Amino acid sequence: MLKTHNCGELRVEHAGQQVTLAGWVNRQRDQGGVVFIDLRDRWGITQVVVDEATSPQAHPIARDARSEYVLQVQGVVRVRPAGTANPELETGEIEVVAQNITLLNASRTPPFYINKEERIEEVRRMQYRYLDLRRPSMQYNIVLRHRIIKFLRDYLDARGFVEIETPILFKTTPEGARDFLVPYRLQPGKFYALPQSPQQLKQLLMVAGYERYFQIARCFRDEDLRGERQPEFTQLDMEMSFIEREDIMQLVEGMMIALVEGVGTNKQLLWKPFPRLTYTEAMEKYGSDKPDLRYGMAAVDVSDIAGKSGFGVFQTNVAEGRPVKAMRVPGAGAVSGTQLRKDTAELEDLARSAGAKGLAWMALPTDENDEVKGPIGKFFTVEQKLELFERLEARPGDLLLFLSDRCEVVYNAVDILRRTLADKLNLLDPNQFAFIWVIDFPLFLWDEENKRWDPSQHMFTAPMPEDLPLLDTDPGKARGSQYDLVCNGYEVAGGSIRIHDRAMQEKIFPLIGQTMEHAREQFGHMLEAFEYGTPPHGGIAAGIDRLAMLFAGAPNIREVIAFPKTQTGSDIMAHAPSPAEPGQLEELGIAVVIEEDKEDA
Ligand code: AMO
Ligand code: AMP
Repeated sequence: MLKTHNCGELRVEHAGQQVTLAGWVNRQRDQGGVVFIDLRDRWGITQVVVDEATSPQAHPIARDARSEYVLQVQGVVRVRPAGTANPELETGEIEVVAQNITLLNASRTPPFYINKEERIEEVRRMQYRYLDLRRPSMQYNIVLRHRIIKFLRDYLDARGFVEIETPILFKTTPEGARDFLVPYRLQPGKFYALPQSPQQLKQLLMVAGYERYFQIARCFRDEDLRGERQPEFTQLDMEMSFIEREDIMQLVEGMMIALVEGVGTNKQLLWKPFPRLTYTEAMEKYGSDKPDLRYGMAAVDVSDIAGKSGFGVFQTNVAEGRPVKAMRVPGAGAVSGTQLRKDTAELEDLARSAGAKGLAWMALPTDENDEVKGPIGKFFTVEQKLELFERLEARPGDLLLFLSDRCEVVYNAVDILRRTLADKLNLLDPNQFAFIWVIDFPLFLWDEENKRWDPSQHMFTAPMPEDLPLLDTDPGKARGSQYDLVCNGYEVAGGSIRIHDRAMQEKIFPLIGQTMEHAREQFGHMLEAFEYGTPPHGGIAAGIDRLAMLFAGAPNIREVIAFPKTQTGSDIMAHAPSPAEPGQLEELGIAVVIEEDKEDA
């Protein structure tokens, strides 16, 4: 080793020891006869003192050293003189008096500070990702991710799970996104698909009798990117045989609690055990199947009261079966009249952006003798208002928001209003973890464009046993045996009990618009496998990137992925994707034809 100790470990008890350190120059201060260098490595920072009088060899190297130069320092540990200790550094009570320094490598001036946390344009961070990753905050995130994965592996290993790798070059494994295709030179005109998840393969491993499988699996999905979505991402993928929904939920819940308690040092679980919501409850109350429950502001149905008010819009909507829902925003009504008009106008714009036709409101005065403010107060009798306030548990100073439209429009608006208000009102504590289960999803969602049912999870999810008859009569009402784990408004895991019977699986295909012929071509191997003693089984997959993001308190998953793609799917460090060499294309028998309007995408 080129070092005897790391830059984070020396303490007072090492005083007098001869040591060798190696690392990067975090900061250099030249005070004439004496140069101070803060030497940094993955573990911390140690101050090195280089005195011209006592270290004639080392001094000129230290004097000329610039930020990010790589140095090896030989010297003796010394307790810092009284009054010069640095309480900010773990090694702040000592310093290393250099005898010899070797310049291992120089560095150009970095494009941004490594030694200071400051806002850096993301394009620059991505272009010089290796320097970005050198910053202590990024090193923290990447090491945290390692600790999460290590914890999960050990947890599952201890419970009899076997880690099995599955191929990256495979066949379409639909999870609702587009496939990435890979052409193959030896079979021109044919393509592998990169797995959107190892779904089929892990089910086949259950057929194969492994009973408890897991994998830290890379998944690939060509879909529109967002802060919590990347085209390639990592799942903790699991599957078990001879289990029921409850078994998997218990196992995963225990694992998540242990993970937070074992790795999430400053994180607090809001609830143990995790609350459960049905899909319908989640949508009705929060307008989302992944609600953030660190805060309230649930939507409450007030159609009965509002329908009897004098407000025409509500009367008509209720008469025609469209609900009126209200949300209580605590304290948001206790502001000046001008501020209130401004705030509610902004919220109304937001609601309109989500498709709503308006946003009515009432602000409860803080002084009991004052009037209720807002455009619709006058349409409600005193008794109706009191009934509303009671149902919403409203208090003086609260702001009540009212939405009325088709359910889907109301859900959308409730969701966006809740998220925006929580952010504005500072209700988002990143150290609080609100894990919840969402269960009883519909098995199918109607796809209006293609006039067919789409699996709400994937085509291998089993219907709830009691809903089986609905497949023939009213498929839209059938519930799937699906369960999603949600934390702070993110879907962190999703799974289901699977179909393990050929006839059942074949029943699903026509419902989702697949011809039997196409289904057999794509999934014949699954159907065939189901005929050879397939055990009842089920599983789940957790998004490692999303978990790591939450544990790191990061704003998006790019912060916890060493080499992520940008929002447009590019790697701007290595310039990927990029055109293929003509020779490569020729070997593959591929000609590239790009339509004009797609040219610079
Ligand atoms: P699902 O599609 O719900 O289920 O994915 C499981 C989890 O993976 C994470 N995730 C993503 N993370 C980052 N970027 C993406 N583009 C992305 N897409 C999904 C989410 C999600 O909860 N085979 C099934 C699992 C099963 O049924 O066992 C599946 O892949 O955290
Ligand atoms: P108007 O009578 O059209 O001026 O509307 C009075 C208030 O009701 C305004 O604040 C509108 O934004 C609101 N509003 C109108 N339509 C709806 C609706 N469908 N749901 C909720 N509020 C509405």
